Amino acid sequence: MSKSKTNKFLEIAEKHKKNSKREKFSGVFSEYLEMIEEDKKIAMLAHKRLYTTITGEGITRMSEEDSRCSNLFGGEALKTYDYFQSKFFGMERSLAKIMRYLHSASMKGEESKQVLLLLGPVGAGKSALVEHIKRALENSGALYALDGCPINEEPLHLVPRSLRDKFQELYGMKIEGDLCPVCRHRLLEEFGGDYMNFPVSEKSFSIRGRRGIGVVPPMDANTQDTSILVGSEDISKLDLYPEDDPRALSLNGAFNVGNRGIVEFVEVFKNEIEFLHTMITATQEKAVPSPGKGAMIYFDGVILAHCNEAEWIKFKSENTNEAILDRIVRVNVPYCLEVSEEQKIYKKMLDESDFDAHIAPHTLEVAAMFSVLTRLKPSNKVDPMTKMKIYNGQEVVEKGYIKKIDIDDLRDEVRDEGMTGISTRFIMKSIDAAVADSENNMVTPISIRDALVKQVKEQVVVEELRERYLSFLQKELHDEYLNILETEITKAFVSAYQEQAESLFNNYLDHAEAYVNGSKVKDKVTNEEMQADEDFLCSIEEQIGIVGSARENFRADITAYMFAKLRKGEQIDWNSYGPLKEAIENKLLASVRDISRIVTKSKSRDKKQQGKYNEMIKTLMEEYGYDEASATEVIKYASNNLWRDS
Ligand SMILES: Nc1ncnc2c1ncn2[C@@H]1O[C@H](COP(=O)(O)OP(=O)(O)OP(=O)(O)O)[C@@H](O)[C@H]1O
Ligand SMILES: [Mg+2]
Repeated sequence: MSKSKTNKFLEIAEKHKKNSKREKFSGVFSEYLEMIEEDKKIAMLAHKRLYTTITGEGITRMSEEDSRCSNLFGGEALKTYDYFQSKFFGMERSLAKIMRYLHSASMKGEESKQVLLLLGPVGAGKSALVEHIKRALENSGALYALDGCPINEEPLHLVPRSLRDKFQELYGMKIEGDLCPVCRHRLLEEFGGDYMNFPVSEKSFSIRGRRGIGVVPPMDANTQDTSILVGSEDISKLDLYPEDDPRALSLNGAFNVGNRGIVEFVEVFKNEIEFLHTMITATQEKAVPSPGKGAMIYFDGVILAHCNEAEWIKFKSENTNEAILDRIVRVNVPYCLEVSEEQKIYKKMLDESDFDAHIAPHTLEVAAMFSVLTRLKPSNKVDPMTKMKIYNGQEVVEKGYIKKIDIDDLRDEVRDEGMTGISTRFIMKSIDAAVADSENNMVTPISIRDALVKQVKEQVVVEELRERYLSFLQKELHDEYLNILETEITKAFVSAYQEQAESLFNNYLDHAEAYVNGSKVKDKVTNEEMQADEDFLCSIEEQIGIVGSARENFRADITAYMFAKLRKGEQIDWNSYGPLKEAIENKLLASVRDISRIVTKSKSRDKKQQGKYNEMIKTLMEEYGYDEASATEVIKYASNNLWRDS
């Protein structure tokens, strides 16, 4: 039995212990002042701390060469934040707004007195985003606080009001906030007012430890009690101390816990309105009520609330509470509307789970196309499929031409897009269902589509939506997938027929050159000289719609292009020139169509065809990422749905 893994882990654990043993600061206020002199940043207010921590991970400007930048963001080199990049996809706009809020708040602008509300449909990633933001604080370094303070308050609060101007002059920084009742009491009773000797200690933010990060879960009206927010008076201690003695206070409410960091309100509008008033006071006055009869307690923190749109609309319709609405910075967190980014979300979620089934190529793509289709609002200018592709930054080709449609025109047609439709959770459930139903522990574009159809029938109750979603699955996506599949299978054939493609290419080049130069082509076998074969050239060119007088130019261009490459010592092959490659592929596609039909039909395969079939399966596995079962399934599907006997 080998113990090498355990030994290795013991080593790592030992090292970790040593590293984390770094002495934490523990001293008195006068020593803290010396540290402040060295680095003012250690006393940053909450918004600034959060902003600098996140931006400290790096800011990247989207490259102008990035196709997303030019196709989706109008060439505007958007700032993206590295801290979010590997985890959140297709939400650059929402993230930019959140960061803009944090930036102004960190400069103590009006935003620092406002609640940040993330508003979006279910499963759009609000909770995940807030979790990630909270985690940023955990890595934001030391939190210096008055030792023993229940709300981890900033030590600078010790500086008496009367000395603060002098302090500001000397240190160049303004002190905000006053001592909490507990520390004030200790200062007087324990230290006789000698604040320079009040102990200061170093801590760190912790979600689980409820240090600097507080959470308010939604509460129903009956159990609602402001102690959740601001703590309570400890009844057991009321006998010990005189009335209103701070020692009887339990400052363990969300605002106490979240002081210096973040207070999160989950599904905020499920709470009663009275509850929300404390939230507003906290952000406007930067103070929260004390339990009992004490004075307000200073509070410094980012208030992050989130809820889905239904709750928001209900709240707005039931309450004409302008005061609250006016103190909220709302950022919409819509669903992702880019197919390629949406796929990354699924990939991330699957990677984070124990999911271990085989995912055939294009499976997540088909699922993502479906989600996006359900989320888009109809356009008067284009069909849903075209809109989906344009939102994905793709070119839409129709009859040999690229459709010229401006994405901004499509965006301008509608408002608040992406706030409805299918959620990521719906897709995840469908993937699980598809795997559960499969005999081979896999999911394919075919089985995911079936699973989605089933889920839609079961779960989408609004008749009109159900019809629309089913039609996406059964019409648009069915056709689109068959297109994808035909190209893929053909390519699997074509790469099995590399030589054929290569020889078409060589022949084409020889004949085109002869045609352009008015020379002869020498037959490689018989050495016989012959005229350029125009019929052959045409049969290739027509594959990409080059006819009539365009042919001569095309031939001249290609010949010049290839010889320029050769002169530079570069290799050329049938892939070298895009349009010609496409023409050759199409030509092969036409010629393999018949054989595909025969080969994929298991019944009519002869020995030679069986060999080709095996070769194709092998290519699909080795080059396209199928496993044997999924390759077999898609070929079977192709044989039943493509190349129908006419
Ligand atoms: N754009 C996105 N990028 C990355 N992950 C996302 C994105 N949208 C959703 N997710 C993922 O989807 C899952 C569900 O998201 P989450 O629970 O955060 O949604 P929510 O908006 O809080 O929904 P609810 O309103 O139901 O609480 C999470 O695992 C999250 O990581
Ligand atoms: Mg949530």
